[in-house]
Amino acid sequence: MDHRETRGRDGNAYGRGPQHHDPVITEVGPGTPCGELMRRYWHPVALSANVNERPQNTRILGEDLVLFRDKKGRPGLLYPRCAHRGTTLYYGKVEDEGIRCCYHGWLFDVQGHCLDQPCEPEGGLHKDKVRQPWYPVQELYGLVWAYMGPPDKKPVLPRWDTLEGIGPGEKIFATGSAFGAGGDETQEIVPCNWLQDWENVMDPFHIPILHTSFSGVQFVPEMGVMPQVTWDYAETGMRYTAYRKLDDGREMDRVTLALFPHVRIVPNVQLKAGPADSIGWVLPVDDTHFRLFHAMRVPESFELRIPLGDRKKWSTMTEEERQRFPGDWEAQTGQGPISLHSEENLATSDKGVVMLRRLLKQQIKLVQGGGDPLGVNFDPAEAVVKVEAGNFYKYGYFYQVAATAGQGKPNA
Ligand code: FES
Ligand SMILES: [Fe+2]
Repeated sequence: MDHRETRGRDGNAYGRGPQHHDPVITEVGPGTPCGELMRRYWHPVALSANVNERPQNTRILGEDLVLFRDKKGRPGLLYPRCAHRGTTLYYGKVEDEGIRCCYHGWLFDVQGHCLDQPCEPEGGLHKDKVRQPWYPVQELYGLVWAYMGPPDKKPVLPRWDTLEGIGPGEKIFATGSAFGAGGDETQEIVPCNWLQDWENVMDPFHIPILHTSFSGVQFVPEMGVMPQVTWDYAETGMRYTAYRKLDDGREMDRVTLALFPHVRIVPNVQLKAGPADSIGWVLPVDDTHFRLFHAMRVPESFELRIPLGDRKKWSTMTEEERQRFPGDWEAQTGQGPISLHSEENLATSDKGVVMLRRLLKQQIKLVQGGGDPLGVNFDPAEAVVKVEAGNFYKYGYFYQVAATAGQGKPNA
């Protein structure tokens, strides 16, 4: 029986068929369709400030890796099992030239070259035959980025116009905490599939419900106005424009982007006018966990304060408070480790989610057919991405002029 077929059993829960997630758009391990799409892009994997001479275990796209910074300052991302007899480099010691395995002292640089084998004659006559598996990394915007795909398909690391040309009195603030997913700075990893967060970016209708009614007013009361939404495809992903007519007569368009493979560009949630000033990335840790990274353009004096509105900080809430005032964390992890797509009933307000999944499937197919997916660029001259997201007040100029003249409302 079709799982949605409730006639005959009157919607009774007994006898429901088994349900499943869509593996094609959710699973990210090596060799999976979506994993291979993901492996065509650079991913933020850590805050630069947190990568140091102490090796750390990390999991990215379902692969366990070890991350460190050698004493010359170069970050390295290596397969953890030592190429000799397999103990983990997590217990290794960082030196000027790389990381030395604790067991028999083989030394590997950040590109996996074996530089020394102290137990072998003359420090290893055949050491150049050994290579520790490695991934290329770069640093930009206070983040360490990794490329885990085919070497001949390595694209240029994108730059974002929002984050370029930082002037005096400004800085870039990078964070890897879960505040953008309803958590706070005490968590980094959110226990559900990455797509549950990324597709949420194309779901403006949860804002008046979840963030304004259920959570209390988490952002500003104006977010409670039910928007009129249009979704369309952008150059390297998707966008929605949510139009709201506010009680004070102002009208605004809120333009939000979801770009490939997992970029989220969400304008200021206090509805501050102007272009979006931060870029976010939803890094799949594995099939059932993700991490968020953000880089923001902020004044020099900026310190991160999570917009809480009526809510308490997530880590200080009791289980009962989370039930009474749920936010993104509860809604997204509440869909399960990987949502069961077979039992969804998608409606008109899910158009953005449907369009995004469709585009994701197309791009996966494109990669399977040998093509280069959206947003991948090989020309350094084209590295800067123009970001067209923000809160745009209609007649903003009129309101500004009117306000100066002492009449009407100022532009926010
Ligand atoms: S296991 Fe690493 S050097 Fe022997
Ligand atoms: Fe949300």
